[in-house]
Order: sequence, then structure tokens, then C-alpha cells
Amino acid sequence: MRSAKDFFKPLAVGAPQPVTEVPARPSRVIHFFDPSNEKMAAKIPDMVGKADVLLGNLEDGVKADNKVAAREGLVRIGQEVDFGENTQLWTRLNSLDSPWFIDDITTLVTAIGDKLDVVMIPKVEGAEDIHYVDRLLAQLEAKAGLTKPILVHAILETARGMVNVEEICAASPRMQGLSLGPADLAADRRMKTTRVGGGHPGYLVREDPVDGDIEGERATYQQDLWHYTIARMVDACVMNGIFPYYGPFGDIKDTVACEDQFRNAFLLGCVGAWSLHPVQIEIGKRVFSPSVEDVAHARRVVAAMGDGTGAVMLDGKMEDDASLKQCQVIVALADQLGK
Ligand code: GLV
Ligand code: MG
Repeated sequence: MRSAKDFFKPLAVGAPQPVTEVPARPSRVIHFFDPSNEKMAAKIPDMVGKADVLLGNLEDGVKADNKVAAREGLVRIGQEVDFGENTQLWTRLNSLDSPWFIDDITTLVTAIGDKLDVVMIPKVEGAEDIHYVDRLLAQLEAKAGLTKPILVHAILETARGMVNVEEICAASPRMQGLSLGPADLAADRRMKTTRVGGGHPGYLVREDPVDGDIEGERATYQQDLWHYTIARMVDACVMNGIFPYYGPFGDIKDTVACEDQFRNAFLLGCVGAWSLHPVQIEIGKRVFSPSVEDVAHARRVVAAMGDGTGAVMLDGKMEDDASLKQCQVIVALADQLGK
């Protein structure tokens, strides 16, 4: 059975290898659409090749009265659209405690299981949730005669899920990755932000007073509200050979803040983020690809390090076995993206 761990190359004995691998197919941008929205659904064939992942959303954001229409719309799209080699089809199912989950998973695996790469499960709280989905998928795949296992992606969006993040990642070889769900997580934690992802102007550090024209003037800097959560999620994912993603950024007009939040997540180790509007697709693809300068520097270090051991000086900076590994992460991603 193919598992998420197959995405990782084995480490060759004695030779330095990248410490972190990249997904077999890029998934920098997971673009959400509502399959019950006919206008949105009609645009999906044109989006193949633009977003790495097209995700038919059945959960929050879809009105209760439209849940069945969304499921049926996704079946139609799965049957009619050719997603090609470079675009994956994912879905976000309704949560396990909802009245829709069982029909969602049964209908979709039976009707379009051969097209579905990953099912995203919201509000996952522990390994037991993943075990349940894993067994159900195995039964439905066998019944439908599918040969390619459908992978599972969990959204981290409750305090309990957060506390159990390591066991969630390890719960099944089907685990593909985790996304941060900042809106639900903020509510569950009783944080005081009402934004969907991103920072908050009140969560800041203030500089000591500076000598200047204005009495008592102090510069302020906004902090990343999600730093702890993302870093913890990244560690749990890497430990288990699966992939961490930043989730949604709801302020569609604020493309600068979206890019900042995506970049913070990228620098901390995330491989991608969600897109809620076509304008976020380009932001995500740019941010979750290494810059030309970083790739050029990384390739220089790899070349300078020869057999990969010892230390060299490059532009006045020390590079050694460990910094080589950091550079190999960038080079591996660049190679995958053809950069
Ligand atoms: C996403 O589902 C979120 O709750 O932020
Ligand atoms: Mg949510």
C-alpha cells in the first residue's frame, strides 16, 4: 500500500541527504471551491493546472441546505473533469460528528474514489478519529475495487487536537498532512481574534522609548499569533514523515498580510497553504517556492561542500555538514518545481 512515507527518499548510508523531503507532487496551494455554487463549479475545468490542489469543500462555508447539492456537485466534477498529472483533487468532508459525514464519504469514495487523492477531515481531536476514517476508507475502497489508497489530511482546529497532534500524525500510514485551522482553533481556545487567520494589530511588541521629535514615541511590531501552533505542527509532521500546511487567510483584499502569513509559515517549514479566492493562488505559489536568490545560494553551497563533509568559507560565512543539509532542502524543492 502506498503511504505518505513513500514520498520520502531513503537516507543513503554515509552520504548527507536532505533532512526534509518535499511532497511527490507539489501542493503549495490548496484552492477551495464550493461545489454547490454552480458559477464556481463551472470554472473548475479552467483551474486545472493553475492550483496544485483543487479542493471541493463540503464543510463550513457551505449552507446546511446545500450540503447534498455540494456532495452531488463534487461527484459530477470528479466524473467529468480531467485533473491531469499536475493538479490533485481533494475534498474537505463534513466533520465526524455531523449528520452528513457518513453519506459524504460513502458517496464520494464509491462514485469518484479513483479521482480523489486526499480527504481532509476537519476538527480531528485524536488518533481514534483517524482510525475510524482509515477503516471506513479501507472498506469502501475494497467494495469499490479501488487500487490506489485515498490519503487523509487532518485539520488541527481544537485545543484537544492540538494537544494530541503527535498521535494524530502517527495514526495511519494514510496520513498525508495537517493544516492549521486558525478560525475554529481561535474559538476553541477562547482567543480574542475574530479574523480568519493572520495576525492581530493588538498582538504586538513595543520598542523602548526612542529619542525623537515626538515625546514618548515608541515603534510597535505585530507578532505572529500562530507561531507556536505552526512550529508545533511542523515538528509533529516531520517526526512522522507527513506534510504541514498553513490553513486559510480570510481577508481576501489584504494580499500583503496574506503573503506575510504564508511566508512565516513557509519559513517555519510548511509546504503550502489554502487559497479561498483565485487571487491567493498566485501568492501561495510564489511564497511556497524558494526564491531565485535562495536557490542560487543553496546550489553554491552544495557545490562548494564537495563530498559533503568539513567546513568551507563562502562570502565570509562558515558552511559545514549541517548548513549543507539546510541548502539541500531548498535545492530539493527547487528541483521538484523545476526552478
Ligand atoms: C478552518 O477550517 C478554520 O477553522 O480556520
Ligand atoms: Mg474550521
